[in-house]
Amino acid sequence: MRKYTCVLTTTLICLFLYGTLLTAAPGDIQYTREGGDPEKLKSFPPSIFPHWIHRLNYRCDACHNSIFEMKTGTTTINKDVMKEGKTCAVCHNGTDAFDDGFANCNRCHLLEEQ
Ligand code: HEC
Ligand code: HEC
Ligand code: HEC
Repeated sequence: MRKYTCVLTTTLICLFLYGTLLTAAPGDIQYTREGGDPEKLKSFPPSIFPHWIHRLNYRCDACHNSIFEMKTGTTTINKDVMKEGKTCAVCHNGTDAFDDGFANCNRCHLLEEQ
């Protein structure tokens, strides 16, 4: 009986690990911005994208691949496309999630803690 329980536990742990591997997504994405003045970039850093916070709220297919490809840097994301209501602004529009008004700049524009 004890042996059986042991095998069962191992199997469950393996299944669990396999499951997390299948759905594993990277942590926060720190965007980089090219061509900007490095000093200005320090005081106003590029945006981060916290994958985890979003995964708590949404399934993968809420974003992939309709809004974003599954590869960092492949989707053009900047203020112009966001003003057209695309990319982040599909949700960050003040209704589904906070918008990109002045009260909220530093919720996205912060350097990921190292
Ligand atoms: C919902 C998240 C979010 C909020 C809120 C937000 N931004 Fe952004 N912003 C981004 C992303 C993503 C980019 C593209 C990556 C980058 O350059 O940082 C970006 C890019 C930028 C850029 C680079 C130039 C450009 O045209 O793309 C500037 C400047 C900027 N944001 C300023 C601001 C200011 C000022 C505010 C507040 C009034 C703000 N942002 C609020 C997400 C956000
Ligand atoms: C709220 C939107 C959203 C949801 C939900 C989401 N993602 Fe993403 N994902 C993104 C964004 C944004 C990027 C970066 C795209 C870019 O920069 O062009 C990304 C990038 C990725 C990447 C590429 C990372 C890299 O380093 O290149 C993978 C893999 C990924 N997502 C997997 C997943 C999986 C698996 C799920 C569900 C468990 C998921 N994502 C849910 C928005 C989302
Ligand atoms: C599918 C909808 C959706 C998309 C697309 C999306 N977000 Fe979000 N995001 C949310 C929701 C919902 C929350 C949690 C809402 C809240 O706390 O007001 C959130 C929270 C966040 C937070 C956490 C802020 C905090 O202080 O807790 C950041 C940062 C953020 N999003 C940045 C981004 C950026 C950058 C993009 C584009 C690359 C993006 N999001 C795309 C829906 C989305």
